[in-house]
Amino acid sequence: MKRNILITGGAGFIGSHVVRRFVKKYPDCLIVNMDKLTYAGNLMNLADVENEPNYRFVKGDIADEHEVEEVFCSYEIDGVIHLAAESHVDRSIADPMSFIKTNIVGTTTLLNAALKSWGHNLQNKLFYHISTDEVYGSLGSEGFFTEQTSYDPRSPYSASKASSDHLVRAYHHTYGLPTVISNCSNNYGPNQFPEKLIPLTINNIKNKKPIPVYGKGENIRDWLYVEDHAAAIDLVFHRGEHGKTYNIGGNNEWKNIDLIRLLCRILDDKLDRQKGESEKLITFVRDRAGHDLRYAIDSSKIRSELGWRPSVSFEEGLERTVDWYLENNAWLEEVVTGQYLTYYEKQYANR
Ligand code: NAD
Ligand code: DAU
Repeated sequence: MKRNILITGGAGFIGSHVVRRFVKKYPDCLIVNMDKLTYAGNLMNLADVENEPNYRFVKGDIADEHEVEEVFCSYEIDGVIHLAAESHVDRSIADPMSFIKTNIVGTTTLLNAALKSWGHNLQNKLFYHISTDEVYGSLGSEGFFTEQTSYDPRSPYSASKASSDHLVRAYHHTYGLPTVISNCSNNYGPNQFPEKLIPLTINNIKNKKPIPVYGKGENIRDWLYVEDHAAAIDLVFHRGEHGKTYNIGGNNEWKNIDLIRLLCRILDDKLDRQKGESEKLITFVRDRAGHDLRYAIDSSKIRSELGWRPSVSFEEGLERTVDWYLENNAWLEEVVTGQYLTYYEKQYANR
């Protein structure tokens, strides 16, 4: 079907993989990427599709009513895949307000614009909100988050994402807006900003810098290759039931310290360093405030209802990711010499 799809946050990590997939796979659809280009937005991520005839980029803030309405009107948007967000937990602890503005006010601004632009003509319209497993809180050593798990967000980031999920559901129930939500576990892969655990570890090993491990490194995350998330988003956008939620996860739990040690071994090998050399960089630092112990997603609903499953094994995905960071030095250099450095120095100064 010919559609004009607004993808917000398309210059970021996951957004860029989603934009690329949609631009290439759906040449009859117009893909409009609206992104504010914060420190996390990087148009280099989309250099390979920027000249495609079905792609447009709009620099804009999702919390700006005028800018958002302008996009809906100029491009006659009929589908939204909303990824734009402040996404890093540590930054949310240092500066909650920017998370409130983008994640809560920004999402509500988009919902209002969709309602206003679509009016009663809701056929073939969809507002798809991309969210996180962190809204469910923290697990002990057993159990999984299902779509029925009660919300229990514990960081300013997850609280802001939980609020935005509630607002999306409220607009569905109150105004009949066709919506769908998915909540995904930790993504990894090319183009992830090196403030997040995997790219930060790769970058520090490469540069022989200390690898900061929060607390004892016992916290557990469920990792999914980013292109598998993009494939799930494609399926939910086209076949998800309106008003419903889908959990997406890799069924791939790793303790942080084990994952970091694995990356050390892979990089020793690839960089021709002595066995055990990179592990010497591991440095235990003060724990993250309110650090959630464990996330683990039960993704049986999307598997059974939409037939999705991850296609990239963790071994393969990590290999691809490490190779990408080693081969894309220009990308990494540009990113780490920007605003990132100031943030990095502040974040780790007293740890
Ligand atoms: P990211 O930080 O890499 O990218 C966010 C993008 O949003 C950037 O391009 C940034 O410029 C843009 N943006 C920020 N504020 C904006 C604003 N006010 N207006 C317009 N654009 C703005 O994030 P990511 O890791 O790619 O995450 C994308 C989405 O997926 C987020 O909603 C996040 O909550 C969700 N998510 C992420 C993960 C993960 O592991 N990274 C897992 C589950 C869900
Ligand atoms: O679960 C999905 C979420 O995953 C997404 O919603 C978030 O946007 C995304 O940032 C991610 O959140 P996490 O807090 O889990 O990711 P992060 O990479 O920041 O940290 C992963 C784990 O590693 C976590 O337990 C904290 C730890 N850590 C992180 C950093 C940056 C360290 O030990 N040292 C570090 O320097």
